[in-house]
Amino acid sequence: MIAQCHSTTEERRQSIQSAIDATKPAAERNRLGQFATPYPLAVDIACYVESLIGRSRGSIRFADPSIGSGSFFSAALTVYGRKRMESAVGVELDPVFCEAARDLWADAGLEVVQGDFSRVVANGSRPAAPNLILANPPYVRHHHLDRADKERLQRLAYKMTGVEVNGLAGLYVYFLLLATAWMEDGGYAAWLIPSEFMDVNYGTALKRFLTDRVTLTRAHRFDPDDVQFGDALVSSVVLVFRKSPPPSGHESEFTFGGTIAEPHACERISLERLRESRKWTGYPGHAKNDRHTLSDGNGPTLSDFFRVQRGIATGCNKFFVLERADAKRRGIPAKYLRPILPSPRHLKVTVIDADADGSPVIDRQLCVIDCDLPEHVVEQRHPGLWEYLQTAEALGVKDGYLVGKRMPWYKQEQREPAPFLCTYMGRGSDDKRPFRFIWNRSAAIGTNLYLMLYPLSGLAAMLRKHPERGADVHELLGRVTGHELRGEGRVYGGGLNKIEPSELGRISAAPFVVRWPEFESAVQRQAELFV
Ligand SMILES: C[S@@+](CC[C@H](N)C(=O)[O-])C[C@H]1O[C@@H](n2cnc3c(N)ncnc32)[C@H](O)[C@@H]1O
Repeated sequence: MIAQCHSTTEERRQSIQSAIDATKPAAERNRLGQFATPYPLAVDIACYVESLIGRSRGSIRFADPSIGSGSFFSAALTVYGRKRMESAVGVELDPVFCEAARDLWADAGLEVVQGDFSRVVANGSRPAAPNLILANPPYVRHHHLDRADKERLQRLAYKMTGVEVNGLAGLYVYFLLLATAWMEDGGYAAWLIPSEFMDVNYGTALKRFLTDRVTLTRAHRFDPDDVQFGDALVSSVVLVFRKSPPPSGHESEFTFGGTIAEPHACERISLERLRESRKWTGYPGHAKNDRHTLSDGNGPTLSDFFRVQRGIATGCNKFFVLERADAKRRGIPAKYLRPILPSPRHLKVTVIDADADGSPVIDRQLCVIDCDLPEHVVEQRHPGLWEYLQTAEALGVKDGYLVGKRMPWYKQEQREPAPFLCTYMGRGSDDKRPFRFIWNRSAAIGTNLYLMLYPLSGLAAMLRKHPERGADVHELLGRVTGHELRGEGRVYGGGLNKIEPSELGRISAAPFVVRWPEFESAVQRQAELFV
């Protein structure tokens, strides 16, 4: 009887939806992002989420942050049943849809809040946190958002999630972040959103959020050639995730074409791979995928000019890194000490000069113990070093994973000093750069608090011939903006930014080719090798 009643209400909903759509010019629907979710798709999505939650999981507190006429609520009633829905809330800006949703669904237990979701969610008296969100947020593009509103949204998203949203992002990016912050920990969400973010720079922060902050279970992209759901879905993706940190070794299922229940292509992708991938629409890597491609091909990047590698991990800086003067005092032979830079916090300069023996001319001169002699030889020949090594036991240094698998345990990874370094962790918003580039003219290496940039072929040859051009290279690296660095890097709660070697490598190096046009053909040749 209830099912019968509900299907009549769903029929009424569909005719009300069509009637409202017909009264609105396309431009207005576009501006407000008003393209309703076809009911069969809403049911498919609800069913898929149900398969994750499992029937046993108790009651559902449903929310849709932009409810429209309530396609998702209707699907939720069908799939989960009224009894299981402990509460249900929908937010809607447009008074016409708001009234329609109340009229249709109030009796079925839906509370409809009229207003802008981004304000409702920021309000102290917002509705209680849901544990299930099904949403098709407004697709409003960034140029339809006015400047003050965009800045408010950026501040709010940052405050509630620690994510710095790029100004080119559409409204749906803010919706997803804010609604997830609102949702209960452990809750499930399904979002029908444009797939554009998967490939563009402004989507980087959202992609990071999806790989690092929630457990992304599924990303299903519709086939543009598949007309089953009409034009509005041609470039859409359904994301399904759980609000919990991803378990280690987690893989997300990327599917393409067909339906959610029966996709045409499917591939499980590890989070590591996703984090490394600039473009997500290339997944699943299946011939049926319309975006299946191996190359990014967007002009020269830093990786065309540098091999970027994290600095060395000593296994215990406190033990292996010493003040140079202290090491000398202890009688540790200079031969087994390599100059190493202090942590970025203690490095005040961005150009490091060298003294006669290659040591950096900086306030705190440090060195790292690096010796390949077996212990009995050290004991016989180098009492100062031997005595120092004996202090490791009490500090538990040898129990560490890295130190434990080294032979001998005080031999470091062998690395050449890099002429350029980049700090890899830092804060900074707007124009302030979170990371610094350093020109290193000394023989010092860096710890893993730095990324080391080793010039490749053409650039390396030029610098050998004209070492003074290091200053130009440093100046060009200094032109990389804070936005670019943050766009490629990742941000953690509280606004701490980090950047990985591959992410730094993806930053545009177009200014290098402008400065030295002779590199253009070399970069192109390298790119062709990978096509
Ligand atoms: C893409 S439609 C989806 C509607 C419904 N969830 C569905 O799936 O059919 C987006 C809805 O968001 C509403 N909307 C636009 N801006 C909004 C805002 N700032 N806050 C809440 N709702 C908004 C629109 O009026 C529209 O009804």
